[in-house]
Amino acid sequence: MKWVRPQINNLQPYVPGKQVTGKVLKLNANENPYPPSPRAFSALQEVGSDALRLYPDAIAGKLRKIAAEVFDVATEQTIIGNGSDDVLTMIIRTFLDPEDSIAIVDPTYTLYETLAAIQGVKTEIHPLNADYTIPESFFKTKSKVVFLPNPNAQTGTLFPLELVERLCNRNINIVVIDEAYADFAGVSSIPLLKKYENLIVLRTVSKSYSLAGIRVGFGVSNSNFISAMIKVKDSYNVNSISQLIAAEAMHDREHFNRILGKIIETREWFSKSLSDLGWKITPSAANFILVEPVNDSPESIMEKLEAAGIFIRYFNTPRLNDKLRISIGTDEQMEVLLKIIK
Ligand SMILES: Cc1ncc(COP(=O)(O)O)c(C=O)c1O
Repeated sequence: MKWVRPQINNLQPYVPGKQVTGKVLKLNANENPYPPSPRAFSALQEVGSDALRLYPDAIAGKLRKIAAEVFDVATEQTIIGNGSDDVLTMIIRTFLDPEDSIAIVDPTYTLYETLAAIQGVKTEIHPLNADYTIPESFFKTKSKVVFLPNPNAQTGTLFPLELVERLCNRNINIVVIDEAYADFAGVSSIPLLKKYENLIVLRTVSKSYSLAGIRVGFGVSNSNFISAMIKVKDSYNVNSISQLIAAEAMHDREHFNRILGKIIETREWFSKSLSDLGWKITPSAANFILVEPVNDSPESIMEKLEAAGIFIRYFNTPRLNDKLRISIGTDEQMEVLLKIIK
């Protein structure tokens, strides 16, 4: 198309899971099936005229402080994004020129490559080994920034922290560990920030806090990186209401721990039940599982489930097209799904 930058004309846009509503069982976008903390709803009741009339706090100061407490870092080590996707954009804008490249594994979260392409930055792809472990080549990359979700998106695999340290120790790349699902794993690279200056960790309230709709995510790193990222972020990138809700929800540790525990329990029995049916399960430390069905193709299973009002995710890409990704819902929801599968 005339006028449009060649990078954008050639861009493969990120494809989100279908946003279906109504009387359906939605297990296709790794959303949390439980309601958010009641404190989030109380905060919403208290939204007054000023919260709507005035611009929001540009750096989300109060939320930053709470995030710093939860992550046990200094406030200056945190930045708030309009979802962690927004923090990914800030990283790409802050650290990468068009002659630079990023390195990712495959399969993984595809947005890294999309955002890099928008910036005119190339992506070096390192296919994961057959068991979804990280190939040696990834530890040799000279790309300026490496992106690694931990647990990994689409596979749910948890990589040991020693491997994160191995990446950081080389000290020739910026290492971005995307912890969108880390709460479900109970393992985080945030304590490694004390040791490594080239590490950035991303977190979000979208999954473990049941707040995907408000779009709040976090970058945690050394204060110099964060100051640079603040320069490039959109001026009022997180709205006032989202700042308020996220702050309240993050205070409610009891609710957070309770729903986290339930999802982990459900993930374990549901994985075992599918495995008992002969389905191949990739061990998951996240709030979803990647499964290889038997007796029918994944596409056909997905279509049949959709006809029954159940939405799961199928990726028609070489490493994933024999599999299905199922988000973990409540026990009742997973029982319904299991019954239909049987
Ligand atoms: C690995 C990974 N990172 C980031 C995100 C986006 O998170 P947020 O909702 O905070 O933008 C997702 C969403 O599915 C994800 O899977």
